Amino acid sequence: MILTAAGNIIIGITGGIAAYKACDLIRLFVKDKFCVHPVMTKAATEFITPLTVSCLSSKKTVVDIFDSSIEGNVGHIELADIADLMLIAPATADIIAKIASGIADDPVSLISMAFYGTREKPFVIVPAMNYRMYHNPATQKNLEILKERGVIIIDPEEGELVCGETGEGRLASVDVIYNVVIKALDETRDMKNINAIVTAGGTEEPIDPVRVISNRSSGKMGYAVAKQLKKRGAKVTLISSVDLPDPGVDEIAKFKTAADLKDILDSKFPSCDLLVMAAAVADFKPKEQSDKKLHRSDGGITIELEPTDDIIANLAKDRGDRFIVGFAAESEYMISRAKSKLESKGLDMIIANDISRSDIGFGSEYNEVVVLDKNCEKTIKRDLKINIAKGIVDEIASMI
Ligand SMILES: Cc1cc2nc3c(=O)[nH]c(=O)nc-3n(C[C@H](O)[C@H](O)[C@H](O)COP(=O)(O)O)c2cc1C
Repeated sequence: MILTAAGNIIIGITGGIAAYKACDLIRLFVKDKFCVHPVMTKAATEFITPLTVSCLSSKKTVVDIFDSSIEGNVGHIELADIADLMLIAPATADIIAKIASGIADDPVSLISMAFYGTREKPFVIVPAMNYRMYHNPATQKNLEILKERGVIIIDPEEGELVCGETGEGRLASVDVIYNVVIKALDETRDMKNINAIVTAGGTEEPIDPVRVISNRSSGKMGYAVAKQLKKRGAKVTLISSVDLPDPGVDEIAKFKTAADLKDILDSKFPSCDLLVMAAAVADFKPKEQSDKKLHRSDGGITIELEPTDDIIANLAKDRGDRFIVGFAAESEYMISRAKSKLESKGLDMIIANDISRSDIGFGSEYNEVVVLDKNCEKTIKRDLKINIAKGIVDEIASMI
């Protein structure tokens, strides 16, 4: 799945008369460049067809939780993971009851469960039903439960209902729903005014046209940080030496050597607010490179190394009010080395990790880091790199 510039929204459609209004909502979100992932209950398909919904969203509508063609190994979890917001419109009395009690036996309730396992992302429910169903104590109790859990409920409007009666129960207007969704998404975008640069991967310093001196950085941590920053609204330039899937950033520039990286940063750093230097940059490079391939038959060789430029320290000297985050991959004396790097290079924050551990760090999907700034030191316990990245961005957001 691709992250669009505007974001990923799951729209759950359930079996009420107002299901057709979900089509207008999808059109509005798609027009504004959102990627809309539709999910329907079986009852909803009695009111509008999945084909209409798929055509409007340009996405396959999920109507069967056991459909193996849903993207990903465990489709509902992956969908819940990628989405920035979930909206159920219209929400029946039935789906509201299911979600309040943790039932997950249809696509909408199942994906709701997976999506709202934690409260990090906005979940918007828009009830629509006959006014007696709406005022039924069971429905009111279920809505209270959901509100207490932090779910955003958009109250129905009062007016003439399809059943011929008048009362509170009509689906809120499409414009109201749209504006609530945009506002909820906006509140999650605490980095929206930030122009960020993230570097990722290791450098390669050539010895001859074939061989290089490199390091074991996979770039995964940098990509995870870039993805988190993008999710939270930052404009992100990723400067990378690796070929991982595009995390949905605004721009990607490629480097190989420390000198390439320096050149790119020299041109881009002046217009940024935040630099996260997750790339592992060589401290040394061969003093001379052979322009012809070296051969064993030529006998042994000695490679003289010279220091590379200290890119981050040099940028920090002229930083103005830009926020600079460095990384310290250490095999011993991790904290003391990270502290001295923080100070000697003039950084605002440094992320230290222990590369002697085999269960985290280089190449692994996992990491455990200590975030240090002048005043504090905080451990983010072993977790997937994408969650570690979230913790790092939380720390940056609290200081920037
Ligand atoms: C014509 C018709 C209209 C309905 N409209 C609504 C409605 O607006 N709101 C509601 O909560 N239920 C409505 N229902 C009842 C639901 O369709 C029913 O409770 C169904 O089981 C909901 O399934 P779902 O929650 O899985 O979509 C309607 C039923 C029919 C037959």
